Amino acid sequence: MKIENGTRVYVAGCGGMLGDAMYARLKGAGAIIKATDINCIESWLEYGDVRDLASIRKSIVDFNPELIINLAALTDLEFCEKEQENSWLTNGLGAENLGLIANELDVPYVYISTAGIFGGERDLYHDFHVPNPLSVYAQSKYYGEQYVRNSVRKHYVLRAGWMMGGGPGKDKKFINKIYKQICSGAKELFVVDDKLGTPTYTVDFANGLCGIVESEQYGLYNQVCNGAASRFVVAQEFVRLMGLADKVKVTVVPSDHFKEQYFAPRPASEKLVNLKLNQRGLNLMRDWHVCLEEYAEVFKADYARR
Ligand SMILES: NC(=O)c1ccc[n+]([C@@H]2O[C@H](COP(=O)([O-])OP(=O)(O)OC[C@H]3O[C@@H](n4cnc5c(N)ncnc54)[C@H](OP(=O)(O)O)[C@@H]3O)[C@@H](O)[C@H]2O)c1
Repeated sequence: MKIENGTRVYVAGCGGMLGDAMYARLKGAGAIIKATDINCIESWLEYGDVRDLASIRKSIVDFNPELIINLAALTDLEFCEKEQENSWLTNGLGAENLGLIANELDVPYVYISTAGIFGGERDLYHDFHVPNPLSVYAQSKYYGEQYVRNSVRKHYVLRAGWMMGGGPGKDKKFINKIYKQICSGAKELFVVDDKLGTPTYTVDFANGLCGIVESEQYGLYNQVCNGAASRFVVAQEFVRLMGLADKVKVTVVPSDHFKEQYFAPRPASEKLVNLKLNQRGLNLMRDWHVCLEEYAEVFKADYARR
């Protein structure tokens, strides 16, 4: 299928970091979008809860989409440990609910999984390595992934890494956590170097997603930026790009330093490589350094306004 002027696309959970880039990418292609979320923080969002099959079914069937994209998730690992039932209902049952509807309508369905489903036993994971999810978040996402792969006829499961995107207003993850510390006047940032991963820029991810859907090569794909890093290296690079290297020091600490705050289990490495996308010529992701440079411009502009 082509994603072009008039293509009808339903996006659940579109109010978040990835939703921001996904909406812009689809809008740019001229698609007719129905974007829903449980938090309607934009004028273009309507209410939709993926946990509630009857109401989300009505929301989707009424729109009659040609493509369903499910971005809805609870992504805070500590919150998921504390609110386990909600995590399973959102990340697991939500994946099922939209999968049932996609099968009923016989339309393609995109589910976003995570590098966090791996257990950290190896340094680098390609698409065929076997997951070993450690946290409730990772277990519920892996459940969703497996359901979709086993039960949805026209499916794409795309595994993202350390997501960055959405800017100061929507980014709930690492870059914005670092930025908030900078804004609150921190002169020293404590960052771990014993956690490895693959930054994943939402703008590239949304673009890559469209390319994969247009290829009609259904299945499971790792889709992360090219390259990999530790949290420390990413933080250092972000501070440098912000032009603050001589004002803000980045200091290495072990993960133990944050054991109270970040108590959910995390793998030592969740580095992914896009083996299948590379082989099929579908890898539209850029190197994470290039992406972070582009993304840092948003924060630089925000910082200058303060
Ligand atoms: N963020 C990452 O680092 C990361 C990494 C790998 C994969 N992913 C996956 O990428 C996808 C997009 O996540 P994201 O990074 O854009 O995270 P996000 O910013 O948290 O976006 C997810 C959105 O889903 C909403 N939501 C939560 N429960 C819902 C429900 N029951 N029904 C409908 N919407 C609901 C969230 O609302 P609230 O804000 O109120 O919770 C949020 O607006 C998810 O599948 C996530 O698991 C994310």
